[in-house]
Amino acid sequence: MTDTRTAWFDGNFQPLADVRLSPMDRGFLFADGIYEVTAVLDGKLVDSASHLARLERSAAALEIKLPLTIAEIEQIELELVARNGLTRGTVYIQLTRGAAERDFVAEPDKPTLLLFTQAADMLASPAVKNGARVITMPDIRWGRRDIKSVMLLAQVLAKRAAKEAGAQEAWLVQDGYVTEGASSTALIVTADGTLVTRPNSNAILPGCTRAAVLALAERDGVRLEERAFTVDEALAAREAMLTSASTFVISIVQIDDQQIGDGRPGPIALRLRELYLEMARGTN
Ligand code: PDD
Repeated sequence: MTDTRTAWFDGNFQPLADVRLSPMDRGFLFADGIYEVTAVLDGKLVDSASHLARLERSAAALEIKLPLTIAEIEQIELELVARNGLTRGTVYIQLTRGAAERDFVAEPDKPTLLLFTQAADMLASPAVKNGARVITMPDIRWGRRDIKSVMLLAQVLAKRAAKEAGAQEAWLVQDGYVTEGASSTALIVTADGTLVTRPNSNAILPGCTRAAVLALAERDGVRLEERAFTVDEALAAREAMLTSASTFVISIVQIDDQQIGDGRPGPIALRLRELYLEMARGTN
């Protein structure tokens, strides 16, 4: 089947298949760019302001000037959702420094901005019902993981290893502590019912879903601790879960060879998922 999706590139809505990027684009040559992924549920953007604020922050960190305002970018996202008739899935935004002669410090005339949509039914994934499995891997990434850079090779390798092992995600580990998932935030619930996740820093991406879920948990009376946790603590946890724009909240039922809890999605993860979906749908 031919791809009939409409994308937005270089000022125009156009068929995704017709988008022509320069081979000299610095996103391609140097991974000199950033991206965002925002969920679409019932045709609406989920937590849009938070994702656009992070887009601005990532762009500023690399000194790439956004060619449009945040409001204009959101309008394009909404228009893409409408043109593609997207009810569930994601909108992807990529911004690179642009195309120029290959030179580490070249300053292209203009940045490259590309947006497209991806259909996905995040409510129907088997991991929602059965929980997910994760493997642990050394975190071999760079020191500015707070920037949502398109330089994702370490994550690609970690996800390939996870897939090979029959797992859905890889938890990245540094000095015995879990930093985060390859494309998600990592959380556990300790034996006394405390929800634990690493505080934001350069070591992890400040997850938009993480922020929303922590606020919902607090409102719901869940005890929170923002601190790093070890792999051993995770293996002994009552519950484990991951959060991301593309999965919302997913319970983790196995880490490496260790079953977590009774091997079924835990009550706190299920409750937080429900609260997040209510928020996403604007019913709470
Ligand atoms: N990934 N940590 C990393 C390394 C991520 O790549 C992501 C998101 C998250 C969760 O952030 P948020 O809740 O804002 O989606 C944490 C996206 C979904 C991706 O790369 O496809």
